[in-house]
Amino acid sequence: MKVQFTETVLRDANQSLVATRMPFSDFAGALGLLDKAGYYSLECWGGATFDSCLRYLDEDPWERLRKIKAACPNTKLQMLLRGQNLLGYKHYPDDVVRLFVKKSVENGIGIVRIFDALNDLRNIQVAVDETLKNGAVASGAICFTISPIHNLDNYVKLARAMEGMGVHTVCIKDMAGIMGPQEAFDLVTALKQAVRVPIVVHTHSTTGLGLLSLQKAVEAGADVIDTAISCFSGGTSQPPTETLAYALRQQGWEVGLDFAALNEINDFFKPVRDKAIKSGLLNPLVMATETDALIYQIPGGMLSNLVAQLSAQNKLDRLEEVLAETPRVREDLGFPPLVTPMSQMVGVQAVANVLTGERYKTISNEVKNYIRGEYGKPPGEMNPELVKKVLGDAKPVTVRYADLLEPGLAAARAALGKTARSDEDVLSYIAFPDQALAFFKRREDKKKKTYTYSVEIAQ
Ligand code: CO
Repeated sequence: MKVQFTETVLRDANQSLVATRMPFSDFAGALGLLDKAGYYSLECWGGATFDSCLRYLDEDPWERLRKIKAACPNTKLQMLLRGQNLLGYKHYPDDVVRLFVKKSVENGIGIVRIFDALNDLRNIQVAVDETLKNGAVASGAICFTISPIHNLDNYVKLARAMEGMGVHTVCIKDMAGIMGPQEAFDLVTALKQAVRVPIVVHTHSTTGLGLLSLQKAVEAGADVIDTAISCFSGGTSQPPTETLAYALRQQGWEVGLDFAALNEINDFFKPVRDKAIKSGLLNPLVMATETDALIYQIPGGMLSNLVAQLSAQNKLDRLEEVLAETPRVREDLGFPPLVTPMSQMVGVQAVANVLTGERYKTISNEVKNYIRGEYGKPPGEMNPELVKKVLGDAKPVTVRYADLLEPGLAAARAALGKTARSDEDVLSYIAFPDQALAFFKRREDKKKKTYTYSVEIAQ
């Protein structure tokens, strides 16, 4: 019996606990240890890391990746990619998606975990294909959600279709930490029977179910689990690496981890955590257990957004109504998984429906675009009256939305001119135009300064 571990401290734990604000300099000293600990992979890039590097940390995300790779030659580096949306929320044309994946692999990524918020596999197809072309491991991720139309059959179909695309592994992505141990056991059992590729399980500790669910997932045959080194684990982050490694080894699983190295990694990150608490970046409350998501069946992050939205309008007294309206909006939209950007869209619409006193009196542009089919195919049937209200006599998009987009690389290259030093720069600009331009400008200013300085020295 064997189970392997993906360490998330550099990406998901960093994102979930400290808003992805951990600079490279904070974790550089741990990379050698992380590389020798025996992990299946290090999740270290993609998700919000890219945006955060450019926006807050004055780091080139591509350079960060190259530096991590140089320090971790023996362990596969893993990234999270939102399919056709790459690292953002809109659909990009195929030429952009292909170059992004190719450059990610060239710069050091060994495993690309690819998902679509609606589990519409047309939206992950191109990214999977390009990952395979570039010789990296393609991991197809299924967004786990609970609804009257989501059942084992759906998930099995998705996993089989992903296997048909050629993915090397299938990942169950429980972004809200709402998958219970029985659900984890049943789902992994079903997927193990349905597909031959290894099964990876990703969850969060938010509701406290994480440890139990990973234990049951492993009992059902999960091949890889995602965990975070203990001082960056718990709450909205992943369950702790050392605890699971210890418990599973005790029960007879070969975990392949060097426990002394894990201990050193944890010792390394403790002061990083303490610094984040001191600066206010890490609120210790997010590391605690929060079971509201189990009652309302909506992710913890979405719940706090709803509270914030209502407080801002001095309408916190309407929270109960909004919480009752949220599942109705979700049903009207065909039960999309409540992951970004769907969680925001459903939440904002539920608030509007309650506060205006009339359902769908106002409809956000995002919801309209969703109903037009611009995000992909909703998992279930949408409310026909709502569809009629938005579309009128117009026809929805039924093809893959990216098929309607013009190629994007040439225009971005032209817009940047000499400002772009590389294809990587062009991709940064396409992904986050304002942040990338500001970053390029700072970089240029620094170069000028260094140049002037060295001329002075030479004199
Ligand atoms: Co996650």
